[in-house]
Amino acid sequence: MASDTHTTAPVPPSTAGGEARVLGHLINGYRITDVPGRVVASINPARASDILATVALATPETFLQASKAARAAQPGWAAVPAPVRGRVIAAAGRLVEANKEALAALVTREVGKTYAEALGEVQEVVDTCDFFLGEGRRLYGQTVPSEMVDKELFTYRRPVGVAAIITAANFPAAVPSWYLVPALLCGNAVVWKPSEYAPVVADALAELFVRAGLPDGVLNLIHADGPTTFEGLDEALESGLIDKIGFTGSTAAGRSVSELAGRYLQTPCLELGGKNPMIVAPDADLELAVEGALFAGFGTAGQRCTSLGTVWVHRAVHTEFIRAYSRAVEHAVIGDPTADVLYGPMINEAYLHRYQDYLDLIHSHHTIHGSTSTGRITHANPRERFLGDPDLGWYAHPVIVDGVTAEDELYGTETFGPIVGVGCYDTLDEAIELANGHGYGLSSAIYTNDPRTAWRFARGVSAGMTSINNSTSGAEAHLPFGGNGLSGNGSRQSGLWVLDQFTRWQSVNWDFAGRLQKAQMDTAVLPADLDFRL
Ligand code: UN1
Repeated sequence: MASDTHTTAPVPPSTAGGEARVLGHLINGYRITDVPGRVVASINPARASDILATVALATPETFLQASKAARAAQPGWAAVPAPVRGRVIAAAGRLVEANKEALAALVTREVGKTYAEALGEVQEVVDTCDFFLGEGRRLYGQTVPSEMVDKELFTYRRPVGVAAIITAANFPAAVPSWYLVPALLCGNAVVWKPSEYAPVVADALAELFVRAGLPDGVLNLIHADGPTTFEGLDEALESGLIDKIGFTGSTAAGRSVSELAGRYLQTPCLELGGKNPMIVAPDADLELAVEGALFAGFGTAGQRCTSLGTVWVHRAVHTEFIRAYSRAVEHAVIGDPTADVLYGPMINEAYLHRYQDYLDLIHSHHTIHGSTSTGRITHANPRERFLGDPDLGWYAHPVIVDGVTAEDELYGTETFGPIVGVGCYDTLDEAIELANGHGYGLSSAIYTNDPRTAWRFARGVSAGMTSINNSTSGAEAHLPFGGNGLSGNGSRQSGLWVLDQFTRWQSVNWDFAGRLQKAQMDTAVLPADLDFRL
């Protein structure tokens, strides 16, 4: 179903036919363009002739340079009182809010997300700032009673130091803000390496944050590819310049980052892939379940890590569900992301090609629904309900694959595109096993009107997030976000919980007894009569 908000984007300024902007790296307050790295272009995936900008990618040395700038700036930033840092986050939130439409239009233009969803994404940045601006006045520690007289105990949250933040293209503004905002608020300096597929949004967001009052060097922005980032990160860790890594991306890359961090005795904050299940119980409101499965599976062209992987439908309602779901997908309008469509193009050509490879996981025992064809949408391979000219961009047909079982490769493969599997189950225990069996554990959902079914599922599912009668995607910005198993190492972003990623607890004791009191040894013991019985 297309968004019912009927929001359409302001026409973005086009560089087509003109000079594309040249982006720089932001290091210590300076934009640096003269790096010797490979030059890449940011291209509108809905209109490949529209080039937003070019950027010469960083080398490992650029990464080191940014890490050094961050290291130098961090103590000064940590010395700024937390409530004052909170005011900077507040200003960032107001600036992002005031530029909401412009930033959302850039998101749509650079990664092809529908404008309605792009507005939601920018709102998530604002919400994150709004949440953390108050944290500047809390950042609470505790007072703790001592076991000795004339002694006080306290705990303090101390900044970790320098955080290297590596983010993906599918949420080029919201997900980075989940790291940047708490990291900065807690007194850390940051080296941010956004996806090389979304450098323009990153540049705009960094600009807004810097204009909110961040001192030079506190937020540095490096555009780089994966291997260069890995090399730069390794060297920066070796030189003691990075204290924390935040990484959003694939499970495979997350594993490498985690191995690297482990060598330096660090635990990264990881947000990895998912194969998010949705259970449709026999008593579910099927219309609601179809609505949820439509958005969860096909919103953002299936390119969220919270996107729906497989719907497990109770056998008794399978036929009815598949009929309604197929109809909903067939009727959905796909196309120009500035208009009111279910989804726009894939993030870029590479994402489309990778997605097309996943179509090989569809086998003869499956039946497909939702479209008259599969693969790329073109004039030669058309979709009836398509808005715009498909040949101009990288659009994919939606596919529902019915007949999925736990034996299929599709069952355990994150496909990151507009493809949703459907399978049957008979008992709730079986549904829970199917929901967990592949080892991913990011998001999940169940549609049921029976509270016992809902809560048994919530307890049984291994995912870090679960929805009852709601989509697998669309988490709110102040609840813990994160996964288990192949989806992450248990770290959580957002809300209060992320503070543990960007601060370290320090225990302080203050002894005013005027003599050395030795813990466990100089504690008073009051006599107890332990032989007493009633
Ligand atoms: C992601 O895909 O990396 O819960 C994050 C959601 C969004 C964030 C997704 N708020 O779907």
